[in-house]
Amino acid sequence: MAEIEVDALTRAQAKAELAHLADVLGKANAAYYQKDAPFLSDAEYDRLKRRNMAIEARFPDLKRADSPTDRIGAPPSAGFAKVRHKIPMMSLADVFTDEEIYAFDARVRKFLNFAPDAPLDYTAEPKIDGLSLSIRYEGGKLVQAATRGDGSVGEDVTANARMIPDIPQTLVDAPDILEVRGEVYMPDAAFAELNKTQAAKGLKPFANPRNAAAGSLRQLDPQVTRERPLKFFAYAWGELSEPLADTQLGAIHHLARLGFPTNTHNALCNGPAEMLQHYRQIETERALLGYDIDGVVYKVNDLALQKRLGFRATTPRWAIAHKFPAELATTLLEDIEIQVGRTGALSPVAKLKPITIGGVVVSSATLHNEDYIAGRDSHGNPIRDGRDIRIGDWVIVYRAGDVIPKIKDVLLDRRPPDAVPYQFPHKCPVCGSDAVREPGESVRRCTGGIICPAQQVEKMKHFVSRAAFDIEGLGAKQVEMFYKDGWIREPADIFTLEDRFGHGVQQLKNREGWGEKSAQKLFAAIRAARHVPLNRLIFALGIRHVGETASLMLARFYGSWQNFHTAMEQARDHDGPAWQALMGIDGVGEVMAASLVDYFHEEKTRAALERLVAHLDIQNVEAPHVAGSPVSGKTVVFTGTLEHMTRAEAKARAEALGAKVSGSVSGHTDIVVAGPKAGSKLKKARELGVKVLSEKEWLALIG
Ligand code: IVH
Repeated sequence: MAEIEVDALTRAQAKAELAHLADVLGKANAAYYQKDAPFLSDAEYDRLKRRNMAIEARFPDLKRADSPTDRIGAPPSAGFAKVRHKIPMMSLADVFTDEEIYAFDARVRKFLNFAPDAPLDYTAEPKIDGLSLSIRYEGGKLVQAATRGDGSVGEDVTANARMIPDIPQTLVDAPDILEVRGEVYMPDAAFAELNKTQAAKGLKPFANPRNAAAGSLRQLDPQVTRERPLKFFAYAWGELSEPLADTQLGAIHHLARLGFPTNTHNALCNGPAEMLQHYRQIETERALLGYDIDGVVYKVNDLALQKRLGFRATTPRWAIAHKFPAELATTLLEDIEIQVGRTGALSPVAKLKPITIGGVVVSSATLHNEDYIAGRDSHGNPIRDGRDIRIGDWVIVYRAGDVIPKIKDVLLDRRPPDAVPYQFPHKCPVCGSDAVREPGESVRRCTGGIICPAQQVEKMKHFVSRAAFDIEGLGAKQVEMFYKDGWIREPADIFTLEDRFGHGVQQLKNREGWGEKSAQKLFAAIRAARHVPLNRLIFALGIRHVGETASLMLARFYGSWQNFHTAMEQARDHDGPAWQALMGIDGVGEVMAASLVDYFHEEKTRAALERLVAHLDIQNVEAPHVAGSPVSGKTVVFTGTLEHMTRAEAKARAEALGAKVSGSVSGHTDIVVAGPKAGSKLKKARELGVKVLSEKEWLALIG
């Protein structure tokens, strides 16, 4: 049925449609939040929600008690309701060295086409070691607070945030819509006090103030949060109905005037030399601050420039985190264990005499690869002055942030006289196949492929992981157990589990740790997981070099499984358009493209893939629709010299407007933007009858 213009709706029609929309959006919410199996695209969901609001605006008295307008998330099966951030909460790229700060500044200047000596201000702000929170105010009233979650969807912790005295409940003279973002943290003294109380109650102490802050905010009972002394610093924002200021520092001052605590050590620096000076200054004051910081964040101060710089997939181009050096500790290397990953890579892991670093007990650390153990890098140059690492050695271990601990060095003066150089295995420790190292590669891989149990299990663990199929009740542990029992050998088997056992529940419920209810729940989760968005499927396949972001880019570019699959088969021909198109996707280079093509060419994986896909309902993925953008969803190619901005900025802007930027012209291209000196691409566009614009015409089009 064609949709009637909101202005033309009768009362009866409006009433019926509001009921219908409440039903559809309610189901969509449940599918999205509880089953992680959305059936509406984000764009369609937003459109229906807007239509619902428009109808309510025209007939305010028809607004339903269960209006979708008032609901942001639906309570998930357990725990907190989920909140979809209107503007994603990004994270920051971490760097550790002065050179990387100079490189950051150089990248920013290159993107903006600024001379190396042109003045360019950055803020330097302490990087508070807590957890980020987004607090939404409407009409000056706190209406919602959400954790970062995965950046797109966080948890609704409104009731708990209201218990933090630093966070104002009402604001005076604030923008009508204001999302304030910042860090919830626990001061050191309060942390020590809390751990004393925990101990007195016989409870486990928190490892560090950050864990204590996170544990205290993510409490189902807000009264517990109230008793925990949490504090807050504001340093960023999300949705705004009007700008706060022209500069980062101005915006922070505005937030301070509105009543938010802001950090007193924020500074303005002109260029990297001043930034580094400020970093050293803060480093010396660190111990006296009374709360944990783990580095300094630099941000381009001018908000117009921030806007021009924009974002990469998960991090802004206009900011970077300069972390403090990681904490070190010395301990005994008791053993070296070889783990076999899903791609067959043999990864050496150091088994350490347990030691506490930064409040966390560390008992293993990565050793990277055989060269690293032997004391050389991938080019054969010495690292650690060529000192190798042996079982029985005393080693210096460090931990930076939440990442896997690493080994920095080895203490030769404590080496036992009988220690021998480590012999890296040339056979897979799990299946016994040869483990070979291809020329130019730093890792040694098991050649067992599909016959290697370690690879099979690891592939399936990846398949069910959070960013992939994310099946509730089927984690790494269960996969291992089911594999051992011979219940599942490949991903497709997961979807036949219930049928194969006829009474799958009966079989499962007699297993240790399983009851009728949990078994039923697992099968329901597996059934729901059949509806999978294309990007998650691509990521789940575990194709080498194809990570989460690349999977999303691929899904957005190809849209449907059919398109993607056909294109990957056709891309074998490196002279053909399919390969060209693949290589033109942002973030896809030769190595990833070749890996994709190999994957879809390999006989065994093809057969396994066919078995898997037969069980799935693969949902198309659309490039994010940008409302009001004339180029949303269009494929654009830039060629020739651009005169008004750098190529990188042109590409970033087009992408921010929802366009796909490709490196090659094909029948799928919508617009070619051609500057002076355009050559073969322009010619091809003319041949294919693709719309060609000058840079000026393009700028006029996008405004
Ligand atoms: S800005 C788009 N500023 O660090 C940029 N983050 O690694 C958003 N953090 O998730 C972040 N102090 O939890 C920013 N002054 C500061 C910060 C800060 C701490 C945390 C924050 C963020 C993480 C990124």
